[in-house]
Amino acid sequence: PLFTIVNRETCISCGSCGDLAPDVYDYDEEGLAFVMADDNRGCVKVEEDFIEDVQDAFEECPSGSIRIAEESFEGDPDKFE
Ligand code: F3S
Repeated sequence: PLFTIVNRETCISCGSCGDLAPDVYDYDEEGLAFVMADDNRGCVKVEEDFIEDVQDAFEECPSGSIRIAEESFEGDPDKFE
């Protein structure tokens, strides 16, 4: 399984993740990204169809704010750091 979360403290609102994975990431009023499926808690498995998109977003985020892991983040972007 794959889980994803955005570190919103380092997101610079570049807009890349929502372009690459529009079914997974959206932006709040300030342009900061979040994971739609679980209100950015990183606890809901990424759907199979979106896994490649998430990997692309992970690779392209200029600030390294997209996190991915094989286990739930349980709301903490730094859980596996
Ligand atoms: Fe922010 Fe990175 Fe997305 S900077 S808008 S999390 S690509």
